[in-house]
Amino acid sequence: MSLKIKNLHISVGDKPIVKGVTLTIKPGEVHAIMGPNGSGKSTLANAIMGHPKYRITAGEIELDGADITAAKPEARARGGLFLSEQYPPEIAGVSTEHFLRLSANSLTGANRQPLEFHQELQAKMRTLGIDPEFARRSINVGFSGGEKKRAEILQLLVLNPKYAILDETDSGLDVDALRIVAEGINRYRSPERGILLITHYNRILEFVLPDVVHAMSRGVLVRSGGPELAREIETLGYQDL
Ligand SMILES: Nc1ncnc2c1ncn2[C@@H]1O[C@H](COP(=O)(O)OP(=O)(O)O)[C@@H](O)[C@H]1O
Ligand SMILES: [Mg+2]
Repeated sequence: MSLKIKNLHISVGDKPIVKGVTLTIKPGEVHAIMGPNGSGKSTLANAIMGHPKYRITAGEIELDGADITAAKPEARARGGLFLSEQYPPEIAGVSTEHFLRLSANSLTGANRQPLEFHQELQAKMRTLGIDPEFARRSINVGFSGGEKKRAEILQLLVLNPKYAILDETDSGLDVDALRIVAEGINRYRSPERGILLITHYNRILEFVLPDVVHAMSRGVLVRSGGPELAREIETLGYQDL
């Protein structure tokens, strides 16, 4: 059981961006990838989830033993994979609650009834400090940056995937919102769940302590270590990696 990335190469258009990333995330583990802007973190995240714009030119992705390198995003989601995008899309006309209930039903094959789901959702929203009103609003439409990030964590808690890739879920958050988002991630964290936390700041890693930290630069993982690597990067920057 694991999410395995084997020597992954990814191009956008004709341009090679990710140049051979190897990584294994086991249930119970939190891996952080840190790296400067443009190093290929989001490219890696999107390709793992199967975004068609990000072309895998070599290597393999394995989800609990199944080769998903060429699988459709929805098949990956059913297999237990989740991506919180760096820039969550706005979807006008689809309410957050409707979307979440249908997604949860579609992923689990369950048929959650609206009222029961509504109550559960409201409880989860309270823990994230999200106004109950947001359940009825179109997904992310008119949400502030911080509200979008909380909505992503709400999605994470509702869908409860086996492996979560969180792409800069901490960016643009003030310290209170950061703490709430981190608490949400820690609530999701468990011995059965694996997390890939992408960030370029150490500060979220003070709240969500990673097991492994990888430094990414120009499309490759240049170093891996424990939480001390994140602190080292915070102090020295990325230049000397
Ligand atoms: N959809 C895209 N179209 C064109 N270029 C892209 C696209 N996505 C990423 N790139 C390019 O790939 C490189 C890595 O980007 P990205 O993966 O977003 O880096 P990071 O998330 O580490 O900041 C950048 O040079 C960026 O311009
Ligand atoms: Mg990015």
